[in-house]
Amino acid sequence: MKYLVTGAAGYIGSHTARELLMRGAERVVAVDSLERGHRAAIGVLERLAPGRVRFVEADIRDRRTLRETLLAERPDVVLHFASFALVGESMGHPAMYWSCSAGGTASLLEAIQAAGTRRLVFSSTCATYGVPDRMPIVETMPQRPCNPYGSAKLACETMIREQVEGARRTGGDFGAVLLRYFNVAGCSADGLLGEDHDPETHLVPSALQAALGTRPALEIFGTDYPTPDGTCIRDYVHVEDLAAAHVDAVAGLRPAECRSFNVGIGRGFSVREVLAECERVVGRPIPAKIAPRREGDPPELRSDPSLVMRELGWKPRHVTLAPMVESAWRWMQANPAGYPR
Ligand code: UFG
Repeated sequence: MKYLVTGAAGYIGSHTARELLMRGAERVVAVDSLERGHRAAIGVLERLAPGRVRFVEADIRDRRTLRETLLAERPDVVLHFASFALVGESMGHPAMYWSCSAGGTASLLEAIQAAGTRRLVFSSTCATYGVPDRMPIVETMPQRPCNPYGSAKLACETMIREQVEGARRTGGDFGAVLLRYFNVAGCSADGLLGEDHDPETHLVPSALQAALGTRPALEIFGTDYPTPDGTCIRDYVHVEDLAAAHVDAVAGLRPAECRSFNVGIGRGFSVREVLAECERVVGRPIPAKIAPRREGDPPELRSDPSLVMRELGWKPRHVTLAPMVESAWRWMQANPAGYPR
């Protein structure tokens, strides 16, 4: 099969492209603007599968390049990751998030239609649920995002669903799967791909940077949430399990249907629990200080992953924090300044 992967130089996109190549993909066309992605991650893919990877440096809002690339390559499946993905940043820069997520997805869908591509897997988020009334979250619960990152992703979901309906109306069979990720952590077991954001704001790498001394201390954003220890609870999924979920999603794509799935392990860990696990893995206390709440953060997000398990046959190999933190720590120790720039 031939794949086109947008955001292939990013954290989840690169891990998924690697998984597709390892499972025998004939070709992966890796599209990335390199605004947040890393050329070095593409290099890892190129070395892993010589001759099977083509890199196209382009912004997904570049309609002409996207259209030309899709027409020339005619991929069987597009996997769409390219996006800004920081809840906190989105609070101060809503238009930037709408432009990249919604604008980029509209441009991609136009190119998909022009090229007659029939299948799409989209990187969505549990941030589309906002602050749910109940836990765990099932796919049928209302989507009421509480930050621009989630609102823009929800707009993308709507756009994709309508595009599937539009294709059906005109006799096409375009189908999509929307994967709503929970929190992603860890790195590839071979240590070649990692998590490298600038600025880094995610909990696990931030805690590990504090352990390494490349950040003064981990700030714990809020200790007065209505949770047992007062800190926010999230459902963490290993990036390699998430990459495998995309392979399952590709296999589960159905003509003229748009299906949505939560991807998490179904367990919640508080910020303090994650910090404690990081301390266990690094073998020493990590400097941490209490800071005010971060705007836009829901108190608890925990998935019910039964639908993705039942319908797509996905089964996470890792259901504890240990392998996520251990692989992230190995990568960070080997690459204290991130990917070579
Ligand atoms: N946190 C801290 N200190 C930090 C960083 C994070 O206390 O230095 C807390 C946050 O307040 C939050 C939790 O740790 O309660 C997790 O924060 P992350 O920034 O790691 O992740 P988010 O939950 O904000 O968002 C992430 C991704 C999104 C995705 C979302 C789904 O960035 O793309 O998970 O929950 F949509």
